Amino acid sequence: MAIQWFPGHMNKARKDVAERLKDIDVVIEMLDARLPASSANPMLARMAKGKPRLMILNKQDLADAAATLQWLEWYRAKKNTQALGMDAGERAPAQKLVAACRELAPTRGGLEKPLRVLICGIPNVGKSTLINSMSSRKVAKTGNMPGVTKNEQRIILADDVELFDTPGMLWPKIEVEEGGYNLAASGAVGRNAMDEEEVALELLKYLLQHYAPELTARYKLDDIAGQQDWQVLEMIGRKRGAVQSGGKINVQKAAEIVLTDFRDGNIGRITLERPAEWLAWEKRAKEL
Ligand code: G4P
Repeated sequence: MAIQWFPGHMNKARKDVAERLKDIDVVIEMLDARLPASSANPMLARMAKGKPRLMILNKQDLADAAATLQWLEWYRAKKNTQALGMDAGERAPAQKLVAACRELAPTRGGLEKPLRVLICGIPNVGKSTLINSMSSRKVAKTGNMPGVTKNEQRIILADDVELFDTPGMLWPKIEVEEGGYNLAASGAVGRNAMDEEEVALELLKYLLQHYAPELTARYKLDDIAGQQDWQVLEMIGRKRGAVQSGGKINVQKAAEIVLTDFRDGNIGRITLERPAEWLAWEKRAKEL
């Protein structure tokens, strides 16, 4: 596979999160709505087992609305789990989070037993954007509280609801190959850790299957029915002038164009995986 990871960081994050989880009532996991399963952290799911969980499908403005509904239903069907779609345009995110967390932990709350919530998410899902939008006035450094990492953020969401930001970095753990490609396509993976041409081809393969009209419209392509991913990449390169001397297509440039357009939402609102697909990919990964 084209994606490389750094498990060294993961062990430190695991220890820090395990410590923090001890006195947490609800665990929020932020996901990228375009790739909810791929952007989840399987390690977190195992560590938070038994705790009420709130899944936030963020960046829903970039995702396919019908697919987001499928994913919300999928998470809501799980035990002790609630799910919300969200994006940076949300007017009162704190209120929405508080309501969902109170529902998940009805016995907590009040000044005697404040509701303590931990928010987690792999890089690039939009965690800092959300936290910043909620913390303009109410950030508290927690360095002087026992058992809390120095500089860890505590945000007062309501008088009796405290939100803690995850200590350390929670990296994704790629257990499913398609998940690795989807993370790379989303921009969650540094350029040095992936082969952009390979990632763009995988993306095009999925877009041809699910979003051919959007692809055709974006690049003003002629008939792409029956075309392979690499042929479509060349067509896009030609249309966009990614041509070297001698008329050869600059596929690297074409791949960059496709990836940038996908990340910026220029091809349309796109989701790269559906629950049923994810289950099939996961099953195959386990059989390998
Ligand atoms: P992180 O803390 O989880 O690593 O993510 P962060 O908030 O830094 O967000 C990563 C990128 O995603 C940022 O874009 C941010 O603006 C964008 N983003 C966050 N939430 C949303 C959302 O709901 N919808 C959309 N469309 N984008 C969102 P960037 O290009 O890295 O930076 P910039 O454009 O903000 O400068």
